[in-house]
Amino acid sequence: MAEPTTPAATVDAPPVRAEDFEGAARAILPKGIYDYFAGGAEDEAAVAGNRAAFARWRFRYRVLTGASEPDLGLELFGRRLAMPIQLAPAATQKMAHPEGELAAARAATATGVVYCLSTLSTTSMETVATAEGVRWFQLYVFKDRGITTDMVDRAEAAGYQAIVLTVDTPILGRRERDFRNAFGLPAGFQYENLVGPLARAGPADVGQSALAEYFSFQLDHALTFADLEWLAGHTPLPVLVKGVVRPDDARRSLSAGARGVIVSNHGGRQLDYAIATLDALPAVVDEVGAEAPVLLDGGVRRGTDVLKALALGARSVMIGRPYLWALAVGGTDGVRRLLQMFREEIAVSMSLLGAGRLDELTPDLLAGP
Ligand SMILES: Cc1cc2nc3c(=O)[nH]c(=O)nc-3n(C[C@H](O)[C@H](O)[C@H](O)COP(=O)(O)O)c2cc1C
Repeated sequence: MAEPTTPAATVDAPPVRAEDFEGAARAILPKGIYDYFAGGAEDEAAVAGNRAAFARWRFRYRVLTGASEPDLGLELFGRRLAMPIQLAPAATQKMAHPEGELAAARAATATGVVYCLSTLSTTSMETVATAEGVRWFQLYVFKDRGITTDMVDRAEAAGYQAIVLTVDTPILGRRERDFRNAFGLPAGFQYENLVGPLARAGPADVGQSALAEYFSFQLDHALTFADLEWLAGHTPLPVLVKGVVRPDDARRSLSAGARGVIVSNHGGRQLDYAIATLDALPAVVDEVGAEAPVLLDGGVRRGTDVLKALALGARSVMIGRPYLWALAVGGTDGVRRLLQMFREEIAVSMSLLGAGRLDELTPDLLAGP
């Protein structure tokens, strides 16, 4: 089934849907940065696949339920959240907007959703903590374990409430747009959670990506479930494993001490032709959904996408690129507007589905592919 399309946004018209921010951001960002945000690995089939999977489902909605003004709230790890959307960890947000991660985190706080900070942020975790909302810290494991434990301990001290261990990135996927653009951190930016040579990636030689080199030299390529067990034993914070697409890996993650899993293929930026996350979700939910929250990201662009993921058993979803575009366009205000759009779309679609609460989103509401 072809993916439905709606008319392209223009830069002049105010955004009315999440994807409108992309056109506006593209017009203002340097090409190398736009491509770094937008791109995926190799053929970018996994990027397209995440979107296509959402389009294959249709709703078998309920009528005469009396559901109006639906309640979008949920509880996760003891925190009340306003809606089932979180801001996914994404590196180097000052490349989108001068206020970078802090601006995005402020929007998350104002809206009552989780902000998940990347290890490779251009604002330090302590500064982002001043946004004061529900915050999680995404971890990449460095070859030097001392650096890794130091970051985890700092995150705990700065009030982060969960550690998200990303496991789909033993090395960086081949992002050809970045090779063509010789992508590296532009002058003036650094990884503010790190110091010395670890705080920089770049410049890159022609045809290379400085980020790919950084991953290959600095990060641990050979993580195993024993390392997850080590991490879960090191920190009192709940550890979520991000980048799982298989039920057996989800099960082993919980056995190794994880408290939740995020079904993700890194927005199609790692293994190309990775299974679409929505296609991977049901089996993971079947295996571990009764014991731990299962989250999903990849290609979520509409309130209806959120509802499809929840009906298939996700507790919440994360969005990546959409909020980078909104950040580029309007800083904190842009991200707030984006989140408000998601809120309105979710609320309207829940009413039309006949669901008054998130736990009423059940698989029978969907007509499968
Ligand atoms: C520009 C960019 C940078 C990213 N950086 C990270 C990162 O540092 N750590 C991480 O775990 N995931 C990272 N991701 C992946 C996101 O967390 C998320 O899995 C993905 O963006 C979701 O797909 P979507 O962009 O289609 O919403 C990044 C994604 C993008 C687009």
